[in-house]
Amino acid sequence: MKIIIDNEENIARRAAQRYVELLREKPDAILGGATGSTPLGLYAELARLCKAGEISFARARSFNLDEYVGLDGSHDQSYRYFMNENLFKHIDIDLANTRVPDGINTAIAAEYDREIEAAGGIDLQLLGIGVDGHIGFNEPGTPWDSVTHVVELTENTREVNSRFFASLDEVPTHAVTMGIKTVMNARSIILMAIGKSKAEIVRAFIQGPVTTEVPASILQLHPAVEVYLDPEAAALL
Ligand code: F6R
Repeated sequence: MKIIIDNEENIARRAAQRYVELLREKPDAILGGATGSTPLGLYAELARLCKAGEISFARARSFNLDEYVGLDGSHDQSYRYFMNENLFKHIDIDLANTRVPDGINTAIAAEYDREIEAAGGIDLQLLGIGVDGHIGFNEPGTPWDSVTHVVELTENTREVNSRFFASLDEVPTHAVTMGIKTVMNARSIILMAIGKSKAEIVRAFIQGPVTTEVPASILQLHPAVEVYLDPEAAALL
């Protein structure tokens, strides 16, 4: 695991350079996307680079990690909407080549893994981390061999995410998420964490035991992980 510690702006810039390198080498790369607050700086930087002609997503494809159950892509809190607004609209990717798990027809969740495989597998998966160690919406206790599936969100995760909704009651109770195995199948992974609220879990997933109680700790066993941290998130390492 390679650990990069720098200020928030620089980690966004440095992580974006990984995309520049990958897409130069493999213009039709398969990218794994994440939502939440953490990737916003990276997405803004990718948009800037694309406008400047330094990167092109014209032949790339993407698969996002997760989606709320019950929200369709037109809902402003759906992760499809988030991706369109915060990244896809601002880069030259073909929207038809972007996928987000289906939050309405959840019966087809596991087909997502087959689609990823048929596309050739994810070259670079982006992750944030929840304060409880979740990656995607794989909460503590999720089995290592899980594929894309429906999960019940913990009260803690719903509360943390309620900042984006009018009230806690509006936060969906379930989500569909890539499983741990789906994530681990990616050829390379970037995890980003920003701010002091992440410091304890950052220490736990990097330096603690590999345990399903800390889902991100499995990344210790992946051969190509880069972790981008600001000094506050890295404070307890
Ligand atoms: C989002 C996702 C989540 C977030 C995590 C951190 O697609 O899968 O695991 O990465 O909850 O969220 P932020 O970045 O808002 O702190």
